[in-house]
This record gives sequence, structure tokens and C-alpha cells, in this order.
Amino acid sequence: MKERVYNFGPGPAVLPLPVLKEIQAEFLNFKGSGMSITEVSHRSKWFDSVAEDATARVRRLLKLDERFHVLFLQGGASMQFCMVPMNLLPDNQSADYVNTGIWSTKAIKEARLQRKTVDVIASSEDKNFSYIPKDLPFNHDAAYVHVTSNNTIKGTQWAAFPDTGDVPLICDMSSDIMSRSFDASPFGLIYAGAQKNLGPAGATLVIIRHDMLERVPGDLPTMLKYTTFVDHNSMFNTPPCFAVYAIQLVLKWLEETIGGIERIAELNRKKADLLYAMIDRSGFYAGAAEKDSRSVMNVTFRLSTEELEKQFIREALEHGLVGLKGHRSVGGCRASIYNAIGLEGVQALVDFMNDFEQSRG
Ligand SMILES: Cc1ncc(COP(=O)(O)O)c(C=O)c1O
Repeated sequence: MKERVYNFGPGPAVLPLPVLKEIQAEFLNFKGSGMSITEVSHRSKWFDSVAEDATARVRRLLKLDERFHVLFLQGGASMQFCMVPMNLLPDNQSADYVNTGIWSTKAIKEARLQRKTVDVIASSEDKNFSYIPKDLPFNHDAAYVHVTSNNTIKGTQWAAFPDTGDVPLICDMSSDIMSRSFDASPFGLIYAGAQKNLGPAGATLVIIRHDMLERVPGDLPTMLKYTTFVDHNSMFNTPPCFAVYAIQLVLKWLEETIGGIERIAELNRKKADLLYAMIDRSGFYAGAAEKDSRSVMNVTFRLSTEELEKQFIREALEHGLVGLKGHRSVGGCRASIYNAIGLEGVQALVDFMNDFEQSRG
């Protein structure tokens, strides 16, 4: 195995090499503290500046105005499946959910477990979650509309977010946050596990619009209330310090080396176009998602037999292309081409796909 491979894994995922090097360089003595960032107090000036900078970068990159709070929580995106309805769905109201895959299904399940009223207004389950539904019949009195921006497992993505009028959108952006720009105003809450486009596992980014806090019931356990973390700047208890630090560096890289969200969106588009063009070139590979719903982040495809897919994945590994196996629940192949995968990584994959096809031709 080479020293560094091209990692197409879905998460925990590849991090930008300059970020890994920066972590390595300052690991034993963080900013003259004589300690590693994993050893300093979360109440120290060192961690304060990390958390402040990470928050400011999220705000700048996503163009968030002062109505939005930026939080770094724990428990993964899966914890948000339960915290969202617990905090934001009053018992006398219902919420609209769009079911576009395994993660949306889990979000719906967690709301229903709390005996909340959930209306699944659209679903793509009829075609194995291979598309994003259109023409959604929203309830105008719903507490919120929940969507999953990018479906990591099936490889579909909302090309544009639905217009839900005055009903706040709530979005699981775990696998495409920071990959493209969008207008945050219609969103009541956005959440994302860090381990794809943001940094290492351990932190969950939550962006909550201030007016949503009025809904938080007073009698929830302290650690499950958004207000607790807003009131204490995500520092009610010990935050995931190392993850927040790595996120700060990833966001610095995104702003200062890449040049921001518009620039990374262009690069992401180019990478996805290159890969989908390869998939569509002949009948050897077949895209798993419908064309107008294809994800720019997780490219899912099949070969003619499971045996051939196994060979493809095995030989790719020998060429330093790792993480191409589809999710265990669906099989096939998947290339996750998050922000930190460069164009040259995708080119290496496309070259390999071409060679593999020729060798079987
Ligand atoms: C879209 C989406 N939502 C939620 C999750 C679950 O995230 P976590 O493992 O942080 O709970 C994932 C994980 O891959 C995901 O891709």
C-alpha cells in the first residue's frame, strides 16, 4: 500500500493533506502552550480562539446572518434525529418529512418513537430511493419540513431545496455541508455530522435560527435542549475539542487555500461530471441514481454482476483507490468525492475504471 491512498470512503472520510500536516506539526506544542490541543483546557485561551475561529468561519462560509447560532454538539447526526422533534415539534402540531433514504427513514422513526405526529409527505421508496421526489404536498400548518440534503448511501441529492413558504426547513446536511452555497434564510435548523466534509468524527455542527428556540420545552433534560448549548456557547460541558480544532483547520483550508464555497462547488461539479461521464460512456458501468437526482458527493454505480463488482473493488484497492464498496445495505460501488478529494483523485479513479473496462472488454 502507498503511503497515502485516494480514499473514497463515505465517512469518516479523507481530510485535506495540508490540514493533516498542520495538525502533525503543532501536535506536541499547540501555539506555544507546551501542550497538545488534546491536552489543553476547553476553558483556556487556546481552545477559546479555536472555537471562536471555527464558528466565525462557518458563519462566513455559509453567509449566516445574526439570526443563526452555530453550535458544535456530540452524538452525531443520529442524535439530531431525536433532538429535532423533541425540541421543535410541539405535541399539538405535526411535521412534514420527505423520505429519500435510509437516513431519512431513521429520522422519521426517531420522531415517531416520541409519539410525535409525522406526516411523510413524499417518499422515493417505491423506486428503491433512486430519486428525489418532486411536487411535494406540504402542510401549511406543519411545524417544519425535514429533508436530507444528500443521501449518502443511495447517491441522490436535492439539486435545489424546496420552497416551503413560511414553514421552516430542517435539513440533514451531513454529507454535503460546505460543498455548495445556498440561502440559509428558510432553514430553521441545519445539522451535519462532521466526519465527511468538516473534519474527524466526534462533533456535530448544528445551525439553529434564533426564533426556533422559543419552541424548546422547558422540561427537557438539560443535555438534550438546544437552549442549553446556545446559552453556553456550546460549552455547557466539555466539547469535542480535538474535532472542533480539526474542523477549524478544514474551514481555514476551505476559505484560504481553496477560496471559499463557490470555488469548491465548481471543483465538486467538475469532479462529479468527470466521474458520471465515465459511468455513462458505455454500458459497462450503470449509475444507480436517476440522472436528475444524482449526487455530486456520493457517486453510486453498479457493474453487471456482483462478482465483477468484487473484482473491481479488489483491483481498485491494489491501485491505491480505497473505500469504493457500496453501503452494506445496498451493495454495488460508491465513490464518495467529498471536498478533500482533488480532481487528480477522481482522474485516477476514472483512469482505473477505463483500464478495468478495457481489460474485461
Ligand atoms: C446523511 C446522513 N445522515 C446521518 C448520518 C449519521 O451520522 P452519525 O454517524 O454522525 O450519527 C449519516 C452517516 O453517514 C449520513 O450520511
